[in-house]
Amino acid sequence: MKRVLGLLLVLLLASLGVVSAAPAGRVNVLCSPNLVWCDAIKVEFPKATGIQLDYVRLSSGEAFARMRAEAANPSFDVWFAGTGDPHLEAVELGITEFYRPKSWNDLRPEFREAVGGKYIPLYAGILGWAQNERLLKEKGAPVPTTWKDLTNPRYKGLIAMPNPNTSGTGYTMLATIVQIYGEKAGFDLLKLIHRNIAQYTRGGADPGPLTGRGEIGIGVTFLHDAIDNILKGFPITYGSARDGTGFEIGGLSLVKGARNRDNAITFIEWALSPDGQRVAAELGQSYQIPSNSKTPVPRVAPRFQDFVMIKYDFLKYGKASVRDALIKKWSAEVFALPR
Ligand code: G6P
Repeated sequence: MKRVLGLLLVLLLASLGVVSAAPAGRVNVLCSPNLVWCDAIKVEFPKATGIQLDYVRLSSGEAFARMRAEAANPSFDVWFAGTGDPHLEAVELGITEFYRPKSWNDLRPEFREAVGGKYIPLYAGILGWAQNERLLKEKGAPVPTTWKDLTNPRYKGLIAMPNPNTSGTGYTMLATIVQIYGEKAGFDLLKLIHRNIAQYTRGGADPGPLTGRGEIGIGVTFLHDAIDNILKGFPITYGSARDGTGFEIGGLSLVKGARNRDNAITFIEWALSPDGQRVAAELGQSYQIPSNSKTPVPRVAPRFQDFVMIKYDFLKYGKASVRDALIKKWSAEVFALPR
């Protein structure tokens, strides 16, 4: 009886507009940038929309593999950030679908063009490395200036790079070296670098702190990640290859068959708005170049004009056949070698 009365009271209050409508629901996000940024969107998105956000954080390669495995019954609604190559592969394989956001025309045209308008660009980041100059000096090793330099035997046990299987940053390095030197010479170079590797990390942001703690002298990572480490007080500097460096155009993708499709779309629109994008630098400690031209570029964000950029061929290196084959080849012919 009490229950019925309670229900009647709720109905009465609702009809008077006292009780708000049903909660706006939830969205499940597969989140690939640094954890602090994922935590920040978990707080900010519900504030802006009333929709609850849950996330799982996985590096780009791991995120892609997880989505591919559960494509028939996806548990995520949207894939937020991470390097663009696997976003391209996901859309090609029908794991995600292209959604054209309302802000499409505000997104930097050079980013949209670079990825052939096949996925939504979220930001851009430039590849390079963190360097611990004190440790390098102690070991009698010079500060490197090119990818080729990293083959110097003096760096033995002094380099960390992310594993291209799990990390989009690692794949960006692999694809960059292949684009500069060609596959044959590029793989020869990667084999020599392999001899110097102290540690292959799972995530792209892991080598910076290892460098900062003096465990290694050089940690391949995106420059904005190295800058984040410097801002946190790690005693490192950063560098980038003068024989050319690659970059990422981080992606944002709607999962095909998403259970909370409408909320996923609301999330995508918010994540591309200047208010949503500002979260990266202001709360997420992430200093990429945001894709929306109306979002302020963080003061500390590395700019393309200051580095020797290659014309990274996203459409080729984000192709399923090319990306899968390169990673397989790297695992068999480089990673498997003793060091
Ligand atoms: C860091 C960077 C992002 C990048 C991501 C890729 O979080 O700040 O710009 O997209 O790494 O992560 P992964 O672990 O896949 O290399």
